[in-house]
Amino acid sequence: MATTISEVTTRRTVLVVDFGAQYAQLIARRVREHKVYSEIVPHSITAEQIAAKNPAAVILSGGPKSVHVEGAPRLDPKVYESGVPILGICYGAQLIAHQLGGEVGRGSRGEYGRAQMTRIAGSQSTLLTAELPDVQEVWMSHFDAISQVPAGFTATASTPEAPVAVLENADRKIWGVQYHPEVVHSPFGAQVLENFLHNLAGCDASWTMGSVIDEQIAVIRAQVGDKRVICGLSGGVDSAVAAALVHRAIGAQLTCVYVDTGLMRKGESDQVVETFKRNMGIELIHVDSGAKFFDGLKGTTEPEAKRKIIGELFVRVFEQHTGGVTDAEFLVQGTLYPDLIESGGTDGTASVIKSHHNVGGLPADMTLKLVEPLRELFKDEVRRLGSELGLPDEIVWRQPFPGPGLGVRIIGEVTPDKVAILQEADAIVREEIRLAGLEREIWQAFAVLPDIRSVGVMGDERTYAYPIIIRAVTSDDAMTADWARLPFDLLERMSSRIISEVDGVNRVAYDITSKPPGTIEWE
Ligand code: XMP
Repeated sequence: MATTISEVTTRRTVLVVDFGAQYAQLIARRVREHKVYSEIVPHSITAEQIAAKNPAAVILSGGPKSVHVEGAPRLDPKVYESGVPILGICYGAQLIAHQLGGEVGRGSRGEYGRAQMTRIAGSQSTLLTAELPDVQEVWMSHFDAISQVPAGFTATASTPEAPVAVLENADRKIWGVQYHPEVVHSPFGAQVLENFLHNLAGCDASWTMGSVIDEQIAVIRAQVGDKRVICGLSGGVDSAVAAALVHRAIGAQLTCVYVDTGLMRKGESDQVVETFKRNMGIELIHVDSGAKFFDGLKGTTEPEAKRKIIGELFVRVFEQHTGGVTDAEFLVQGTLYPDLIESGGTDGTASVIKSHHNVGGLPADMTLKLVEPLRELFKDEVRRLGSELGLPDEIVWRQPFPGPGLGVRIIGEVTPDKVAILQEADAIVREEIRLAGLEREIWQAFAVLPDIRSVGVMGDERTYAYPIIIRAVTSDDAMTADWARLPFDLLERMSSRIISEVDGVNRVAYDITSKPPGTIEWE
């Protein structure tokens, strides 16, 4: 019988009701930063379903709609009567006003960006504590505005375009803020959320990475008993942290398999072996299968075809080498919380742009049961957990790396020679980013090898060689990204080092495309 988190912990959850746009995930992360576990739920959730989760509080997120449009999402009105503390943010605040008998005026020009919010003289606020200034900067993004609070509520702050920027009814434990306390542009936002969570809703600050480890150890032990567990290491952060956590729980019952596709970054395979086998004492099967992948990829240039070949070969090699571990009943996967939200989809309409998660993924017909110890965590939490488990920074702070590896960063046919060129150039890009102290600011920085050559001159010689394209982006979640404004002198260092240190390259270009319309990877 699988043990669930709720059987091993007394923790209470804050439910973040998703009313659309991208706000819910950020709110959920902010709540967790205050050491309170939070979970995102769809707005179609009923009061009964909420009650069944016994939440410590409910936060209503922002959303793109106006409460006045036909079909605008609503909260089950019974939730307001449940006595569970509620905080409405932006659309959530307007919904409280609208559903409880106040008024939301149709905006004439809205308010976007920074605004000055002022306490309403003579009002008593439980949400805006006495330490907060009477006038504070807040981040606004709304068209409609609450014009009248429901009976029993008080308006306690306003901005030029929002006569009710904060509304509250402490007796009913319902609060609403028109602005976005979850964004960094609201400098006192974190304090307001903290006050709501710890004081008004009475949540303990007890959800820490230490508590996650304890909970997961109990869950994993109960789930797998004395059975053998296997884990595919990809070189990425998620599988590394998942493996370390499972190893902490069941030690020698875990066998890891690292399929070296030959498409890894420079030095990556050695580091995986060093960390897991030597330092952590995890049983690791290292499968050196580059030749197989190069053979399989010969002559193929179409990006999806390449992804498919790499994915299928990966599965085949993985199966071959786990075949010996016949008593294994469980497979560890580094599934994260956003993967579940995305694949469960709030509306399931996301279209497949690239066959991402199938590649480097595992056989669909595997009969092993899944152990997914990271399924409640966001990426930044996984990194913190990794550090807590003693993994080195080089693994914990590693950039995301696609399953098909350098195979999707070499445009056209993949050959060992091209991989060697790209590995060298990529190592220089990453090293320079690290030396410039930008490693944690940049989401990903890497090199791409296109399938063209150009003319240059080095010394007195004409050259005809490959260019390298540098790609560096900033992002929160890889769903959208912006090209990083790297300093020119840093780009110059990368360029001159790549050209002088990497044979076969005579030109360097910088990709200045955001996502959308580009994707982060080139294939
Ligand atoms: P794109 O190129 O779609 O990539 O903007 C978004 C993020 O996903 C990573 N990526 C992958 N990750 N398997 C993975 O696990 C894949 O096949 C894959 N392809 C892209 C990419 O590096 C970026 O972080």
